[in-house]
Amino acid sequence: MNKVVKNFLKGLKGEITIPADKSVSHRAVILASLAKGKSIIKNFSKGKDPLSSLEVCKNLGVNASFDANLEINSTGKLLAPISKLDCGNSGTTMRFMAGVLAGQNFNSVLIGDESLSKRPMKRVIEPLTLMGADIKSENFKSPLQIFGKNLHSIEYNSKLASAQVKSCILLAGLNCDGKTVFSEPYISRDHTERMLKYMGANIYSNKNTVTISKSELEPKTIEISGDISSAAFFIVAALIVPNSKIILKNVGLNPTRTGILDVVKMMGGNLTILDEKEISGEPVGDIQVEYSQLKACKIEGEIIPKLIDELPVIAVLATQAIGTTTIKDAQDLRNKESDRIKSTVSELRKLGADIDEVEDGFIINGKVPLKGGCEVETYQDHRLAMSLYVAGLICEKEIFINGFEWVDISFPEFEELFEKLKSPH
Ligand code: S3P
Repeated sequence: MNKVVKNFLKGLKGEITIPADKSVSHRAVILASLAKGKSIIKNFSKGKDPLSSLEVCKNLGVNASFDANLEINSTGKLLAPISKLDCGNSGTTMRFMAGVLAGQNFNSVLIGDESLSKRPMKRVIEPLTLMGADIKSENFKSPLQIFGKNLHSIEYNSKLASAQVKSCILLAGLNCDGKTVFSEPYISRDHTERMLKYMGANIYSNKNTVTISKSELEPKTIEISGDISSAAFFIVAALIVPNSKIILKNVGLNPTRTGILDVVKMMGGNLTILDEKEISGEPVGDIQVEYSQLKACKIEGEIIPKLIDELPVIAVLATQAIGTTTIKDAQDLRNKESDRIKSTVSELRKLGADIDEVEDGFIINGKVPLKGGCEVETYQDHRLAMSLYVAGLICEKEIFINGFEWVDISFPEFEELFEKLKSPH
């Protein structure tokens, strides 16, 4: 699908509710499938990725019905699938399920789409193998053939700060005798730890180390808050589109995800958090943000895992900040749905940005007017598609985004919500 985006310099105004967090939705459906009994998931994401997790769980014998809420009924024991398990575009589904399936008493095969089949799986195959797993892959890429084995606990020091790797090992450890201990160089998002605790697992965290022991999960009602990674597109849009002032309601504010708010602060953006509370073990609040004069900043080190998915749209933001913004230590961006360093640089340059690629990030000089008047590519990457849309709101001439349908992977409501802020009542 080709999307034409015209600039909107009148300003975004009004209030919207941000749809459910994709990361938390994956965890809710997978953990509810492992708990014996009925779990109710309120506000499950409509993105294609969490739906891939739901389909995989259904193919493992879990009952699910969608009404106002998603209801999961499970015996707590998964059944051997009759076909290959399709994770679609979702790395989270594949890496989490590898941890769940490696310790089952049946075999299974995880497959994915073209983009997922190119993504690295060594990061989960290696530690799972140390736990006794038997996984065959295509040179550490999917399809993953998993031969179910009895796993044993390990202590694992991950070189990567990755919530997907951490969650995979915690899910495998949930089924092992002894203590499974996972450490990472910087803390990555901790939704899995919080939800496991909420569902009664024997788990505790100390700084960057998490320890889990064999546990039975209790079914629960889980309410999912809005996705800060989705809110990020509106935050950046309001900061760079003149005359904007908006409120984003119901945004998850887990401190392992709020790196973008710290960046906005460093850049001098006008952003306020209103009405903070806690829902199902996660902090939530409303965000008010308005058009601001921005200054460049340095983004590196331990903040990176806290904003990893926001970096393409932060690159758009940096084009409008005065000075040179440097983004470092983000080499894993090259392993996302696209090589996000290469794809972000090539497409923003087409629009007129002054942005350079470095091995582990970007160098962006601002403030530069974006000219537009051209076609851009999304490389089958939902976050790049949405970042380009945001850039299009300030381009002098209209832009044409090829492959805009990829937005549905995480955020099918994206455009409708922008329309609402363009014509508030
Ligand atoms: C995710 C973790 C991050 C993130 C991805 C979702 C999760 O990946 O980029 O979109 O839900 O745990 P990594 O763990 O590979 O950094």
